[in-house]
Amino acid sequence: MFREVLADHATRVDATLVALFDELEPSELSDAMRYAALSGGKRLRAFLVLEGSALYGVRPQQADRAAAAVECIHAYSLVHDDLPAMDDDDLRRGKPTVHVKWDEATAVLAGDALQTLAFEVLASSRTSADANIRLRLITSMAEAAGARGMVLGQIQDIAAETAKTPLDLGQITELQANKTGALFRWAAEAGPVMGNTNTGTMRDYAEAVGLAFQIADDILDVEGDAAKAGKRLQKDRDAGKATFVSLLGLEGAKTKAEQLIEQACDGLEPFGGTGDNLRHLARFIIDRDM
Ligand code: IPE
Ligand code: IPE
Ligand code: MG
Ligand code: MG
Ligand code: MG
Repeated sequence: MFREVLADHATRVDATLVALFDELEPSELSDAMRYAALSGGKRLRAFLVLEGSALYGVRPQQADRAAAAVECIHAYSLVHDDLPAMDDDDLRRGKPTVHVKWDEATAVLAGDALQTLAFEVLASSRTSADANIRLRLITSMAEAAGARGMVLGQIQDIAAETAKTPLDLGQITELQANKTGALFRWAAEAGPVMGNTNTGTMRDYAEAVGLAFQIADDILDVEGDAAKAGKRLQKDRDAGKATFVSLLGLEGAKTKAEQLIEQACDGLEPFGGTGDNLRHLARFIIDRDM
């Protein structure tokens, strides 16, 4: 049942993305953008936007655009994360990475263009008729994706590989809140922002789930199946990186993830049964094998 909802939401965001790419001039660039954004992915961030929007009475067509925007930012972050200058990965979502299929310049540029496309989508009146809401979406995305959020987390992650003393739990938690947490938070808050109401409940949920997600990513890196994950694993240990697993041990990391999921679900109390999809998502995030 939950899997069907997840698949249904993924289909929705894919259709929105296809329509956006169809508006671009066909080129190597738009081909690479399409490839990066449409080659699978769990669409967790889109799911958060769509569910949060449904809970706050946002029109589906508007929610779809915010969902597409955050998946464009996420896809860009993966294309750049996989570059030789960063994690140097040749496989993503079970397919060759963009710089392998094309070349590094195309991967850099496709990532850049996916990022700016996301802001173009948010800035359109088709996303919200209210200019103040659009401004809030744009500003919060700039913060979540940039030097206060994801990009900051990425450079902290790279620095951690060569740090003389391994990061401690507090530092890793902060790093992850930036690297992956910030986009999760944006996605969860987009619904209440578009519904012009306060974002506290969704924010608390996203912070717990975002951290649990990253712990699960670290666990998968150690004991996952690369064929199912669609990406190279055991990279963190090879890079000598401190992760939740290296700090807490496998069992400790699993316990921590479990606690976070319970905390996230407890916070959904105000929604009653209408929060069930978010409860299932929280569970999926730590039980997944991909
Ligand atoms: C992978 O994110 C990269 C991280 C932020 C750790 P996802 O696991 O959400 O990737 P897709 O979108 O499903 O491929
Ligand atoms: C990537 O983190 C996070 C972002 C792209 C922001 P990782 O480097 O751990 O992601 P994977 O493991 O390659 O998917
Ligand atoms: Mg990385
Ligand atoms: Mg990586
Ligand atoms: Mg990882």
